[in-house]
Amino acid sequence: MLIRPAPTIRPSEITDEQLYLRRREFMRIAGAAALAAAASPLLSAACEASPADAAQTPLPDVKPKVVTTDEKLNSFEDITSYNNFYEFGTGKNDPQRYAGRMKTTPWTVKVDGLCAKPADYAVEDLIRPHQLEERIYRLRCVEAWSMVIPWVGIPLASVIDRAQPQGKAAFVEFTTLQRPSEMPGQREPILDWPYVEGLRLDEARHPLTILAVGLYGRTLMNQNGAPIRLVVPWKYGFKSIKSIVRIRFVERQPRTAWSMSNPSEYGFYSNVNPEVDHPRWSQAREKRLPSLFATTRTQMFNGYGDQVASLYAGMDLRKNY
Ligand code: MTE
Repeated sequence: MLIRPAPTIRPSEITDEQLYLRRREFMRIAGAAALAAAASPLLSAACEASPADAAQTPLPDVKPKVVTTDEKLNSFEDITSYNNFYEFGTGKNDPQRYAGRMKTTPWTVKVDGLCAKPADYAVEDLIRPHQLEERIYRLRCVEAWSMVIPWVGIPLASVIDRAQPQGKAAFVEFTTLQRPSEMPGQREPILDWPYVEGLRLDEARHPLTILAVGLYGRTLMNQNGAPIRLVVPWKYGFKSIKSIVRIRFVERQPRTAWSMSNPSEYGFYSNVNPEVDHPRWSQAREKRLPSLFATTRTQMFNGYGDQVASLYAGMDLRKNY
């Protein structure tokens, strides 16, 4: 039988899944948190707590989930222990081990570039005017593993509309925090730091694209990109940039961390496409964690084609990989 002995189960793991599954209790706690936070900023509890405590903060007033897959959810343990966040090292377990060092409060997100209302926002002010929603999405990494994750976030379009991009803004560029003193991977030339990513403006405005601030009903763990990250479910995971400090509207296609590091392997679009293999491995199948075997068939646009394929009408998706 596969029953783990009690000492190997971390208390946070137990709390999180119980909270999530016992929805009514979660709503009660969330309601109490909402009352407590009534006159104060959203995530205010997170702002006063240490980074470790912040990871355990329930998010108040989350709109019921938008489910885009009926597949089994990955456990909190899977989602927070097998990560890519190269700022903390290239090992899958490095982010869980080292990301606790990153200070996430206070946190400012600069929204600027070609827009009528540029501003520097405290992250809670960026989020507060918008309704938090739960979105259950597949995340498909370019390395051919995948998970199903219950994110909490807001549509990126809400933030874009508030900034009022100018007519010539055609792309959005995103930048991750650069702080080598707290991010040991940034002391190595793994990528050209800071990590940058980009979307075409219509991709950024698409209703599936969210800025996530939590998962399993609670604020993000640092290893998942606290306090705020992008989630673009039809693209390979590396487009979903973590720990964002800047959102900039630009006229030309921005440079992106992975395409700068290896342009022949990683393109700007990076839509999930089982028919275009990575030069070093097949993209036809994926390993659905915690499975060790790539037995799950990869779907075009990660299964979101009915909603996003029209964005790419007329484009050669073999060239625009
Ligand atoms: N964002 C930053 N800043 N640094 C990274 O190394 N890795 C990307 C993406 N966002 C990465 C990042 C990759 S390759 C993947 S697959 C996803 O984050 C993984 O997200 P997860 O660890 O929350 O599952």
